[in-house]
Amino acid sequence: MERIRLHDKYFKTLIPADEIQKHIALLAEKLNNDLKNEEKVLFISVLNGSFMFTSDLLKHIKVDCELAFVKLTSYHGAKSSGKVDNVMGLNTSIKGRSIVILEDIVDTGLTIQTLNELLLMQQPKSVKICTFLFKPDCYKGSLPVDYACMTIGADFVVGYGLDYDQLGRQLPDLYVLDE
Ligand code: IMP
Ligand code: MG
Repeated sequence: MERIRLHDKYFKTLIPADEIQKHIALLAEKLNNDLKNEEKVLFISVLNGSFMFTSDLLKHIKVDCELAFVKLTSYHGAKSSGKVDNVMGLNTSIKGRSIVILEDIVDTGLTIQTLNELLLMQQPKSVKICTFLFKPDCYKGSLPVDYACMTIGADFVVGYGLDYDQLGRQLPDLYVLDE
């Protein structure tokens, strides 16, 4: 088990890269099956955290699909307060499309809730939520999380796209705060 330091905090390995990859392959199998009758699925990947998950997952996707990257911005700055009010970068029309949102992590669910509402205003055929990590103990939302690659506890994690104050995104393993 590796212990690393990012800024002022220490983290230890929670899920090694090979285990992550196994779960991604299983998730992709499920998606390939569920999406096989949909016409040209549009994956909407939420930057920055989802870049690694998106890249690894989509290598396994066999149905016709398109990929868009969006960035969520909030009026109140950088904090993950759930006060998302704008989806940047979505310049294709999503009307009538089958959408799968790719997120890094669903924690309280506020982000995904707001994104879902913003997308629904453009009348897509369907919107499914697919997240790399899900923290069910923290979830306060009412939307179903359609696909969760892995479920974890409430502790803060980094790596595999997720950051601690912008550090740690490049790590291929997932780490958890080690106090
Ligand atoms: P939610 O709106 O509470 O679901 O928060 C989702 C966002 O909070 C994610 O997209 C992350 O940016 C951030 N977040 C929540 N938990 C963690 C964590 O354990 N590590 C890193 N970022 C996290
Ligand atoms: Mg995110």
